Amino acid sequence: MGIHTVAVLGAGTMGRGIAYAAALGGYRTILEDVSPHVFEQSLAWIRQSLDDGVARGKVTPQQKDAALGQFSTTGSVDTACREADLIIEAVPEDMKLKIDVFATLDNSAPAHAILASNTSSLSVTEIAAVTRRPEKCIGMHFFNPVPKMKLLELVRALETSPETLDACREVGRRMGKETVVVRDSPGFITSRINAMIGNEAFYILEAGIASAEDIDKAVKLGLNHPMGSFEMVDLVGLDVRHSILEYLHRTLGEKFLPCPLMTQYVKAGRLGRKSGRGVYDYSA
Ligand SMILES: NC(=O)c1ccc[n+]([C@@H]2O[C@H](COP(=O)([O-])OP(=O)(O)OC[C@H]3O[C@@H](n4cnc5c(N)ncnc54)[C@H](O)[C@@H]3O)[C@@H](O)[C@H]2O)c1
Repeated sequence: MGIHTVAVLGAGTMGRGIAYAAALGGYRTILEDVSPHVFEQSLAWIRQSLDDGVARGKVTPQQKDAALGQFSTTGSVDTACREADLIIEAVPEDMKLKIDVFATLDNSAPAHAILASNTSSLSVTEIAAVTRRPEKCIGMHFFNPVPKMKLLELVRALETSPETLDACREVGRRMGKETVVVRDSPGFITSRINAMIGNEAFYILEAGIASAEDIDKAVKLGLNHPMGSFEMVDLVGLDVRHSILEYLHRTLGEKFLPCPLMTQYVKAGRLGRKSGRGVYDYSA
């Protein structure tokens, strides 16, 4: 059975981006959230992103109009799921919450529907285990900002079937993404490498080997990364990065021990742009 309708649970940073890509890919798209006030913001963001796409020549005005016609929003999981062939969960990164959401989805979604998680590090196998359809569960890891980021990491959990993987690969293609397939493992490919690089930058800073500005400059101009490690962690949030590192440390071992300097920054409330100060100061 083909995929015609995509439901996205959680209309935050990632959910709205995934909904944007789904609608642009020609899917009927239902965006669900527990917090009704996020819809106005999400729809304004989606409209703005479509306008930006048109301005950048990536989206035609016809595609924009067609995408806008594909959307609906709801505060009810049942309504979101009823007609969905694929449900992509983008609620906060908390295993207990993801498990609750998947158990609910399993009860509400049609038997043929695929259940995907946008988790950036948690075990998709563990999330899938609470359902009666683990072969139809998968990780679909999108990147922020979704309209501009090309990659979709497809996470094959222990029981994910080849049919589920193929269906999601096709969804990625229609969304205009390049896909990679990774076996379920903490941090997959991208979060694992990214956490390691970001942590190492803190160890270099902590040892007084170079200034934050020079570490970022070296990473950008010498390694050709589009952003410096500290610019990136200030954007992602030091608390978010720290909890990923703690998880990787627990599951993969000592090499992911969070740098004590990062731990101190988090304890001091220096969480990045969102708190006005991280590695850099944004208060001015
Ligand atoms: N932000 C990123 O850069 C990024 C990148 C890749 C993956 N992720 C992953 O995507 C997921 C979402 O992250 P985010 O940054 O979009 O979070 P966010 O906090 O911006 O958005 C989460 C949304 O989920 C809603 N929500 C909470 N509980 C819900 C429920 N039970 N049902 C429906 N909606 C619910 C919240 O109201 C909120 O609008 C996380 O698993 C995160 O690890 C984030």
